[in-house]
Amino acid sequence: MFTGKRILLGVTGGIAAYKAVYLLREFQKSGAEVRVIMTPSATRFVGTETFSALSRHEVAVDVFNDNKPDTSWTKHIHWGEWADLFVIAPCTANTLSKIVHGLSDNMLTSTVLAARSPILICPTMDGEMYESPAVANNLNQVSEMGFYILEPETGYLASGLEDKGRLPEYDTILEKSAKIIKEHAIQGPLTGKKVVVSAGPTREFLDPVRFLSNPSSGKMGIAMAEAARSLGGSVTLVHGPIQSAGLDRFHTESFISADDLFAVMKSHSDADVIIMAAAVADFKPAASHPHKLKKDRTSFQIELEQNPDTLKWLGENRKPDQVLIGFAMETENLRENAIAKLSGKNIDWVCANNLNESGSGFGTDTNTIHLFGRDSEDTFSGSKQQIASEILKRIFGNS
Ligand code: CTP
Repeated sequence: MFTGKRILLGVTGGIAAYKAVYLLREFQKSGAEVRVIMTPSATRFVGTETFSALSRHEVAVDVFNDNKPDTSWTKHIHWGEWADLFVIAPCTANTLSKIVHGLSDNMLTSTVLAARSPILICPTMDGEMYESPAVANNLNQVSEMGFYILEPETGYLASGLEDKGRLPEYDTILEKSAKIIKEHAIQGPLTGKKVVVSAGPTREFLDPVRFLSNPSSGKMGIAMAEAARSLGGSVTLVHGPIQSAGLDRFHTESFISADDLFAVMKSHSDADVIIMAAAVADFKPAASHPHKLKKDRTSFQIELEQNPDTLKWLGENRKPDQVLIGFAMETENLRENAIAKLSGKNIDWVCANNLNESGSGFGTDTNTIHLFGRDSEDTFSGSKQQIASEILKRIFGNS
């Protein structure tokens, strides 16, 4: 029911927080990828470790994370963009009232403000609290504001009373979630399609401290991934060693060497669309030394051997109706070289750029891409985001 879908699970500080653990498992069993945000009070009921072990992902609690300087404080933006649906279960009366008033005093409430996905609130509290005029009023308001509400069920509560306030059954939450995701699915030419985009450089290690690589920043690949998502694609971004604050907006996998990239992409060879924007080293050292090489000689020869050509392999093993898009960075004879890659690798499109053209190439925010298809040619210039969007619209159309 949730294959390829991303659920952001918000857990607030009520006794039903323990049920969120099972809810997470149910979403996963139905195919969803889940990340968890907890309020500080929720961590008094269930430890972050439980959720991070099960979600196999860091759990977000604090906006400012002084103890972990390497973790991004912009998670509320990126995770809010990553999710197909944000489910807050259980949602306490306290968090509910913060949502109504737009407070952003923790990671969960900040993410509510930043989220681009629909949000499902599961209010869960004791019966008297649920029936209080303030909670009733807040529920009306969030509903008017466009949030989805799943009413609590009646039953045995933590207070010992039998009343309305229990977290609904997992199946009920899953069914409602699936319905909301369906309603909000982007309807575009890539809706329902699995799209895999590779981005960034490879590293070919000579010894534990030195490698051969190139200056690719991965920006063009990330822009392609963004553009594919906005056309409705279910996107996996396969990235090399790059520094980019926005990677956690995507479902990602990573590679270091061309051999790693080959293995990851082979595992995705069933994708409907593959975009190879990675800047792959064609050669690797024939031998990688286990210890640091010492400078006890005056000159040094490195023997290189060829890396696997991932895109060529994908072209030779393509599934019917699959679309394969390659990139080419050239310094001369751009048209000739690009067209040769179309047939040489048995692919559908080549996005070629000339390193000598101003504003093009590694690390820049702009680019000029010459797009070659089997029987067409186009040129696009502008920011990498604009170009990525133009290329995919040219290939797949708008709807
Ligand atoms: N590519 C790949 N595996 C390689 C080399 C390249 O999958 N070992 C992919 C790149 O991701 C790109 C396309 O093939 O989409 C073209 O890459 P490029 O380096 O321009 O061309 P090469 O095939 O390496 O040929 P040459 O370097 O001789 O131009």
